Amino acid sequence: MKTAITEMFGIEHPIVQGGMHYVGFAELAAAVSNAGGLGIITGLTQRTPELLAKEVARCRDMTNKPFGVNLTFLPTFNAPPYPEYIAAIREGGIKIVETAGRSPEQYMPALKAAGIKVIHKCTSVRHSLKAEQIGCDAVSVDGFECGGHPGEDDMPNMILLPRAAEELKIPFVASGGMADARSLVAALAMGAAGMNMGTRFIATKEAPVHDNVKKAIVAASELDTRLVMRALRNTERVLKNAGVERLLDIERERGSKLKIEDIHDEVASVYPKVMIDGEMDAGAWSCGMVVGLIHDIPTVKELIDRIMVDAERIIRARLTGFLDAESKATRKVA
Ligand SMILES: Cc1cc2nc3c(=O)[nH]c(=O)nc-3n(C[C@H](O)[C@H](O)[C@H](O)COP(=O)(O)O)c2cc1C
Repeated sequence: MKTAITEMFGIEHPIVQGGMHYVGFAELAAAVSNAGGLGIITGLTQRTPELLAKEVARCRDMTNKPFGVNLTFLPTFNAPPYPEYIAAIREGGIKIVETAGRSPEQYMPALKAAGIKVIHKCTSVRHSLKAEQIGCDAVSVDGFECGGHPGEDDMPNMILLPRAAEELKIPFVASGGMADARSLVAALAMGAAGMNMGTRFIATKEAPVHDNVKKAIVAASELDTRLVMRALRNTERVLKNAGVERLLDIERERGSKLKIEDIHDEVASVYPKVMIDGEMDAGAWSCGMVVGLIHDIPTVKELIDRIMVDAERIIRARLTGFLDAESKATRKVA
């Protein structure tokens, strides 16, 4: 399948793997890129720019296809040295960066000077337009369903994607709630040039996370995510667990007086405990409503091949089938 996104990134299929803290290591990024999608290493999971440089080199040993690096600009307890991370990205020969969180405006000159294509993840039309205006090459439009930070507008993709299509000139991928061929075809119908998946890629054989995480995703239903940190205007969609219940109790108790320090234990340093040690009740970790659509743990290649084969079938048989049926019916009347 050829779209503006496959052409822009030099990939076979219009499927991007979003950056994921403690999931987006070289193993997953390489598996996605080798299967014809765009794999992305999560920059800040590497504790220093030097470690990121090593991770990029490790990924290059596993694939000769294009892959990218995610740089997330979110409030953290200690601000990372972004210019040094960008230097590691540039020196590692990376040509695609997924940015997320705050606007990447101040870093655009450095990224563009290195010939890097920037895809910015945004949860609103106004932020997407801002991304276009500051020179981003594409956007990843992330609906309210998404795992991670859905923003504060609570806008689901049924509205957000066609609105983005009405306003944007640069291509965009649909992100949030995407799991299979139905998601891809629907996203294309609503004006996207591809899709970005997070949660779905965690439940794959190659995702380098503890088996408990994959099992929890397969076991969960679409009703099992919770929104945390709303009072801090840093909303995150997470999978419910005992740590998240504790966090929500504190949030209810503190109300609008909530401070990030109040929930430090339930949100800080949780990812390694969950993703590496498989401690499923450790606290808040991002997970999308799309868990309700995830029922197996295929290889990345099986997943992507299945999506592309099924997408062709949906388009050629199901969708054009409606038109063929209509023309047959019309012929009968005539
Ligand atoms: C476990 C997990 C960790 C994530 N970490 C990040 C991150 O560090 N930076 C980022 O930009 N997005 C992050 N995301 C968001 C994903 O890149 C992607 O936008 C999102 O998962 C899409 O929604 P979906 O889960 O419904 O597919 C994370 C998502 C998950 C599930």
